[in-house]
Amino acid sequence: MEVTFGSAPVAEEIIKECLHRAEGYDLEGFLLGQGAIPAKIMLVGEAPGATEIVEGRPFTGQAGKVLEEYLEKLGLTREDLYISSAVRSRPFKDKVAAGTPAGSAPRISRSNRTPTKNEVRAHAAILDAEIELVQPRVIVPMGNIGLHRLIGSHETISSLHGKVIEGPILRLEDPSDPRSDYVFGERTYSIFPLYHPAAVIYNRSLEAVIERDLTTLRDFLATKNNS
Ligand code: URA
Repeated sequence: MEVTFGSAPVAEEIIKECLHRAEGYDLEGFLLGQGAIPAKIMLVGEAPGATEIVEGRPFTGQAGKVLEEYLEKLGLTREDLYISSAVRSRPFKDKVAAGTPAGSAPRISRSNRTPTKNEVRAHAAILDAEIELVQPRVIVPMGNIGLHRLIGSHETISSLHGKVIEGPILRLEDPSDPRSDYVFGERTYSIFPLYHPAAVIYNRSLEAVIERDLTTLRDFLATKNNS
């Protein structure tokens, strides 16, 4: 799949370097985050899926419909914030589809999968650059992949969702080193973890929890706007 940079606000060298670091992984396509620059609020998801890679826009598949509901409850539109994710290509998994008749060429079915830590690290410099550009005051990691990328993996979304954490976030210590570790930056953000929009598709019982978290976030954003 061809990769285009369009009017990418992130320097082309950073993108090229990240794509180079991701070579050999089962990733396809590429799209940057989208939205307002600068923006007070930044959402950080996991990785684009099949639909997003074709559409060239984050959260346009099934999870995107749920994200639109999130935004409606928050009284926001996509233009009010910036939407990104830990990985900017689609992690995929191929398997031979059931029902391929014996003797004929195997039919391969491709599905989305969760990105690995190495894949997140390969694209880490892009998210770091986006955060620098967008300068958000509030960062909303959606799901464990976004949360762990920003604060480390000692906590999970099920323990931190719906809470405000005031603190620094992780960035690559040395962006020029593909094996660089993460370090906490100096700036403090309001971090508000939410369940990933796809979570509710598989677990309807999360609906009420998410509704509560969105109300808490809406109220928090209102206090932030007045401060
Ligand atoms: N999940 C994400 O994290 N990002 C997308 O763009 C779509 C699904």
